[in-house]
Amino acid sequence: MIVTEIRYFDRKKLTAEIRFYFRVLCVSAVKFFHLAKSPFELVHCRELMSKRPIVVGNWKMHKTALDAVHYVEAITPLLQGVESQIFLAVPFPSITPVAQAARKGGILVGAQNMHDAPEGAFTGEVSGLMLKSAGASFVLLGHSERRALFGESDAFIHRKVLRALQDDLIPILCVGETWEEREEGLTEKVLHRQLSSALAGVALDTPDSAMGSEPRKFQADGRVRYNLMVAYEPVWAIGTGKSATPAMVAEAHAMCRKYAPVPLLYGGSVNGENASQIISQKNVDGVLVGGASLSPQTFAQIAIHCSKKVLS
Ligand code: 13P
Repeated sequence: MIVTEIRYFDRKKLTAEIRFYFRVLCVSAVKFFHLAKSPFELVHCRELMSKRPIVVGNWKMHKTALDAVHYVEAITPLLQGVESQIFLAVPFPSITPVAQAARKGGILVGAQNMHDAPEGAFTGEVSGLMLKSAGASFVLLGHSERRALFGESDAFIHRKVLRALQDDLIPILCVGETWEEREEGLTEKVLHRQLSSALAGVALDTPDSAMGSEPRKFQADGRVRYNLMVAYEPVWAIGTGKSATPAMVAEAHAMCRKYAPVPLLYGGSVNGENASQIISQKNVDGVLVGGASLSPQTFAQIAIHCSKKVLS
């Protein structure tokens, strides 16, 4: 009787172990084939192994593909030994040339927008899979210029976030209030609305693990968690030369962290002079730089300032 029970117990344990190792094997195989798909992804994973401040350049509609390659050639030596993780959101035609030129320097390349459909009759639009196959690792979504000038709604941005995650792109979701909304005391309400609608139904990775991982992480239990970043960009600070004060940055980032426990970037008139003060604020894991990212010297200077922050 006793022997039978022991045998029964062992068999159960063995089955559980086999099942566990089989699952680990399946997850590893999926990861391997997933990574082996594109050489750009291998670069991406290797370069994001550690938790370092994130410095993203948003070129907006600037630079031809040739200008873009010259830029990468100029900035690569300036970033030698700099601890920040460098991302460049470039115009669509520059994605592949920049991805190729940036491979050695470990710079990650991304897009500034995408459509939420996988394909279809959407003249002038680009899908996540197209970006991925062109060499993009991430995509900016919900930038205030897209919301204001191209009428993008919270619902559309939500669909784009879901599609980007599905296509293994890291979304950098941009949120922020207008000056009028701030004056009316609506900052937190706006941030909450934008974050909760864009991220509805998304299982997020924690800030700790999200910093150094691939866009989609398979857990040993088979569930999937997503890597995503949020950029707080007060609309009134974009392109105005009038950055938010350190106190405003810290306050807004604390709000964002409450609703989205992911790496947080600040964007809005970041430059070589104010980058140190901005990055030193609590809950600021990096910066999203527009105009000042167009010069390799200034952008490298910002990356150097940011690299001094030790992220907890
Ligand atoms: P500026 O740095 O030019 O203000 O732009 C910020 C921005 O929009 C980054 O996405």
